[in-house]
Amino acid sequence: MQLIETIAGLREVLAEARRQGLKVGLVPTMGYLHEGHASLITRAKEECDVVVVSVFVNPLQFGPHEDLDRYPRDLERDAQLATKSGAAILFHPSAQEMYPSQVLTTVSVQQVTDRLCGASRPGHFDGVATVVLKLLNIVLPDRVYFGLKDYQQVRVISRMVSDLNVPVQIVPCPTIREPDGLAKSSRNVYLTAQDRQAALVLSNSLRELQKLVSAGERNAALLQSRLTEWISSEPLARIDYVEILDSEKLEPVSCETAEIVAAVAVYFGQTRLIDNAVIDAEGRPFYAADSNEIKNSSRQGNRS
Ligand code: PAF
Repeated sequence: MQLIETIAGLREVLAEARRQGLKVGLVPTMGYLHEGHASLITRAKEECDVVVVSVFVNPLQFGPHEDLDRYPRDLERDAQLATKSGAAILFHPSAQEMYPSQVLTTVSVQQVTDRLCGASRPGHFDGVATVVLKLLNIVLPDRVYFGLKDYQQVRVISRMVSDLNVPVQIVPCPTIREPDGLAKSSRNVYLTAQDRQAALVLSNSLRELQKLVSAGERNAALLQSRLTEWISSEPLARIDYVEILDSEKLEPVSCETAEIVAAVAVYFGQTRLIDNAVIDAEGRPFYAADSNEIKNSSRQGNRS
């Protein structure tokens, strides 16, 4: 696997790959890779000839009091995991390489950013959309892979790609979990043993919610209050948000048969974890592990 640190270097290598007619897949990450990332890389390798993994802790998407400085980093380990999972290129630009001068142009996606992390972390999705568009412009991939643990992020990027006719296919991939249910996240390393145990309340509560919906309960206010109750029963959990929204628009559900997303952000100590469950009108998990579609995912202008 090649480690490339400059945009020019990466473009040169990829231009050659494209000349040879090879299909390029991109897995954008902030590093400290885990099995969740590995599953994206493996999937990309199954579907593309050349897989680029970007590792860039993007300062633009962190708020002033967030964990930019202490965000975990381990490039050597990342390189090993990326290689093992099938990546051909690890793109690791510096902040100076990505943002050589003051950023005067950003991408701002409206409405789907009004709630959830968009509300809790002002400016976060402008930072995400901007860096992802830059990465797409640098790599020009045929396909780009994102994990559905960051459900709102997938919606935001899908909307950006659709609105701006970016010629790429977005491939949303299922959340990878620890055997006990905790969603894999680079931030899990921050958790103390006690908080790690307490954090199981998220996946357990979302599973209970799913059962409730399967049993026929569709009242969003009631579902939201049940979910809040279950999570609050864990003394170490401090809720940032618990919401039941229309899975597509990320707005309060206006009809009882809508597909919903139950999305939560909860602090355990200083660590803020997010998780979600997307549930269709019959109460089934909306996203099947073997599907590569997300409803309303952008297909406009796709190359493949
Ligand atoms: O999900 C992430 O790791 C980041 O938000 C992303 C998409 C790599 C953009 O910095």
